[in-house]
Amino acid sequence: MTLGVCYYPEQWPEAWWADDARRMRELGLTYARIGEFAWSRYEPKRGQFDWGWLDRAIDTLGRAGMKVVLGTPTATPPKWLVDEFPEILPYDANGRPRGFGSRRHTTFSSEVWWRESARIVAMLAARYGQHPALVGWQTDNEYGCHDTVLSWGPEDLKGFQRWLRTRYQTTDQLNEAWGNAFWSMDVQSFEEVALPNLTVTEANPAVRLDFWRFQSGQVAAYDKMQCDILRKHSPGRWVTHNFMGFFNEFDHWPLGDHLDLASWDSYPIGFVERFPFAEDERARWAETSHPDIAPFHHDLYRGVGNGRFWVMEQQPGPVNWAPWNPVPKPGMVRLWTWEALAHGAETVSYFRWRQAVTAQEQMHAGLNLPGTHEWSVGGEEAWQVARELAKLGPLPKMAKASVALVYDYEAAWITRIQPQGADFNFSELTFRWYEAARRLGLDVDIVRPGASLAGYGLVLVPCMPYVSDAAAAAFRAADGLVLFGPRTGSKTRNFAIPHNLPPGPIAELTGVRVTQVSSLRPNLSEAVSGSAKGHAIRWREYIDVLADVLILAMFEKGNPALTRRGNQAYLACWPDEALLTATLSLLAITAKLKTVPVPAAIRLSRRGDLTFAFNYGNDPWTAPKLGTLVLGAQIVAPQSVSVWR
Ligand code: GAL
Repeated sequence: MTLGVCYYPEQWPEAWWADDARRMRELGLTYARIGEFAWSRYEPKRGQFDWGWLDRAIDTLGRAGMKVVLGTPTATPPKWLVDEFPEILPYDANGRPRGFGSRRHTTFSSEVWWRESARIVAMLAARYGQHPALVGWQTDNEYGCHDTVLSWGPEDLKGFQRWLRTRYQTTDQLNEAWGNAFWSMDVQSFEEVALPNLTVTEANPAVRLDFWRFQSGQVAAYDKMQCDILRKHSPGRWVTHNFMGFFNEFDHWPLGDHLDLASWDSYPIGFVERFPFAEDERARWAETSHPDIAPFHHDLYRGVGNGRFWVMEQQPGPVNWAPWNPVPKPGMVRLWTWEALAHGAETVSYFRWRQAVTAQEQMHAGLNLPGTHEWSVGGEEAWQVARELAKLGPLPKMAKASVALVYDYEAAWITRIQPQGADFNFSELTFRWYEAARRLGLDVDIVRPGASLAGYGLVLVPCMPYVSDAAAAAFRAADGLVLFGPRTGSKTRNFAIPHNLPPGPIAELTGVRVTQVSSLRPNLSEAVSGSAKGHAIRWREYIDVLADVLILAMFEKGNPALTRRGNQAYLACWPDEALLTATLSLLAITAKLKTVPVPAAIRLSRRGDLTFAFNYGNDPWTAPKLGTLVLGAQIVAPQSVSVWR
């Protein structure tokens, strides 16, 4: 039971449904996710319901043997609701309302919107919650998509002021926390607080961080509201939400805690266009994706789901939303599917069953050609995976990886609010650290700040400006080697420089103190030499060290670049590829991890007693002895996978 598909019965003639369901089974699919955008079709006017078609659609799928995952419809409230309550609309950062006519046209700050959401979710859950074909729920669809976490309207201002009152109690405490003595920014009442947009020059970073926390918290609370309603009406069914790739606008960890499993939407080629690659690197991966893009997110969402995740939407061919949308090379849809499973996915569900012929996404591939009953290339590859899976049998459980990477959403916000160097991009830095570990053939678990780090040989903390007490305690308790990257510990909770100077709460652990930071424009870099060699690019820190700190590498102009005190190492720069690889290799040896360095286009992953090799490149790769071959060949062909037990 490992493959599924996203299906929109409301977009096709009812006469097709039974045949669609039959062909889903024939292909080897088990799950159909449906309904997440269908509100206007079952409540065309307030209080006037037309459930008949949805009843029949679910029955038809169920009769064919499909299991149904039903989406709540709150990503697309209908026109009548927006007309009745225009205050549910979101506002952009220029203070303009964003209108009806696509999706996600709501703000999490609107109380009316919460009430209306609760109403429709309860109706849906009460009606289908016990349906024998229904196995699980998806809340909403891609929270925050199309830039909708931060909204800048009157409802948001009201909500923010309320949130601040609870958090700070008095304006004295708020003025103190935000450092409002600077530039005469003091306020005398909470009503005087404005949103941190439309200021003459940059707004106070402490206000922006709080505003982000406020909005992020609302996403989690809104999701919890939906989950509670679903669980009440639909016992025994699981609840998930489908998250996105390279998306840091809200803190995903608290959401994961009230879901039964996480899921995410994997569009590896679309993400190549979005990630800040240099042009030559982007061209290289344009038709396959970069070999760490999907895996990074599999490992992240396995963490967010506390061990359980799905790919809810898998790219089946070209997408429609990136600046360029090439056709994936033959074999990639199969490869991505296997790769998700290798990283522990319980199910891979393709988006979508059939390519649409109308509206916004008509250029987006499906498993069937536009408006037809004919398999696309993606459909044929899904077909092949289904056969291979059936032959291989049930997949084993994931084991703990040897490397943990600590992923902090607030780090993304803080470095966005105050980049200090134009190219200091948190996602990019984190992704490069992950990539370097996987180039050594290592498996990685992505974990939250404060999670126990026990049992990991190597812990990577690419950047974490605010280190909470819980995070600091976990670092202190780690039994493996911990490597901290630049800017870690450089801010307090209120976005101030810590009294003891960065790295603040981990200064004692690491034995270092940062006295200056330099952001390096593209033509500036500095050589680093010692036990790890390469260059500092983009960002370089000047650090003092305590007497018992081991200096592993030095900057060319003097000053330590890489240090270690006990099991806590500190890297005082943004490392180029050479320095990053050398640093991780050095620490992996110190931590006695077994590495298998692989070429740029090859990756290894392990799931229980299975080892997988994936080839994203143009040349065949001869694998070392990795066990008994159970799928593919010892020479892994381009865009192919091999599996050993
Ligand atoms: C996702 C979304 C789907 C569809 C898809 C197209 O972001 O959840 O509804 O729009 O992208 O790639």
